[in-house]
Amino acid sequence: MTKCSDTLPVLYSTLLTEGKSQWYTPKETFFTLRDKNTMKLSEIPAGSGATGEINDQPVAVYNENGTPVVFDNTCTHLQCQTEWNERDKTWDCPCHGSRFEKDGSVNVGPATEPLPKLNATVEGDEITLA
Ligand code: FES
Repeated sequence: MTKCSDTLPVLYSTLLTEGKSQWYTPKETFFTLRDKNTMKLSEIPAGSGATGEINDQPVAVYNENGTPVVFDNTCTHLQCQTEWNERDKTWDCPCHGSRFEKDGSVNVGPATEPLPKLNATVEGDEITLA
């Protein structure tokens, strides 16, 4: 019997190859519908992370005690979008299981390269890319 958890990575990979991945993950859709180009630091609890887009750039933002640590949210294996894992404090890729530490370094492959860090600043409460 095929479980939903078995088919989702396949579906996601298929959509990714069609260039539509950002429209089909619930978390990304939430941020896209709310405001696809901005993220507010106050909406990410300290010690936690969130994904979204800033100026059409998919980003993964970790709140390091009030300082945003921002990464390109594109998995360095085959370019899926990672999701924040609150329990383990990692960025997890739903496609093939890569996991990245909160600092973007690889925890588990198949990815071998870290998530690229982006320069960001906070203006008011809004996170902006430098
Ligand atoms: S795209 Fe393969 S693990 Fe992320």
